[in-house]
Amino acid sequence: MRNWTSDWKEFLRDHPSLDVNPGLTYPPVPRVPAASLAADEAFWQQVRNLYPEPEELINLNSGAVSSSPRTVEKAFLAYYQLVNQLPSYYLFKFMEQGRELIREGLAGLVNCSKDEVAFLRNTTEALNNVIFGIPLKAGDEVVACRQDYSKAVASWKQRELREGIKVNWVSLEGPEETDEQIVSKYLSAFTHRTKVLHLTHVINWNGQVLPVAQIIREAKKRGVDVLLDGAHSLGLLETDMAALGCDYFVAALH
Ligand SMILES: Cc1ncc(COP(=O)(O)O)c(C=O)c1O
Repeated sequence: MRNWTSDWKEFLRDHPSLDVNPGLTYPPVPRVPAASLAADEAFWQQVRNLYPEPEELINLNSGAVSSSPRTVEKAFLAYYQLVNQLPSYYLFKFMEQGRELIREGLAGLVNCSKDEVAFLRNTTEALNNVIFGIPLKAGDEVVACRQDYSKAVASWKQRELREGIKVNWVSLEGPEETDEQIVSKYLSAFTHRTKVLHLTHVINWNGQVLPVAQIIREAKKRGVDVLLDGAHSLGLLETDMAALGCDYFVAALH
């Protein structure tokens, strides 16, 4: 007999298949230099055990199209099947309650208030909401990087063509550049007309981690609004909104 309880926690207790197996969580990442961690076979075996194993192929793309860990796969399928039984009831009655718990969890993860967290369908949609949502007039300038996410680059170019704003493009040639060189490239792109800085925490083309805290500090000194793309950093690098001080942060949960 189905239990039509309206309490989320009670509901999870009655539906153990929706509980993500606590035995399948990521092992804590040891605080050791990257080279030692790279050689720690036992650690990587634990990580590998979390993923569905392909029969004959090895996945070398853990960026744009990485597979989800088995916990995520399991939860995704279980919730899909649940909602599909009675969408109006499960989707609106139960998923709504779960969503607020996720909002609180995410706010805790990135150190911001839960009222500052919004769910969209993906990072691209979040980027475009911000890019097309910031009021700018002809002559205003934006600093962005040629190696930012290509869809965001296209959106800024669209605003240039439609509205006469100007984008000053930073170009990062390769991962050998030092943090100082990168910061100075951004600094030289700022002018007194700069209103927005579009910044990517981890560049998807080569995995380079940018010194975002330093660059954001410089932007804020100049009164520039900062949009930080954390598609490849959330969950991998510490992300503290209060410490970073950016105005908009977008990231993916997949
Ligand atoms: C740096 C960066 N930003 C944004 C995105 C878009 O992410 P999503 O697939 O969540 O829209 C990607 C996707 O690869 C990316 O590499």
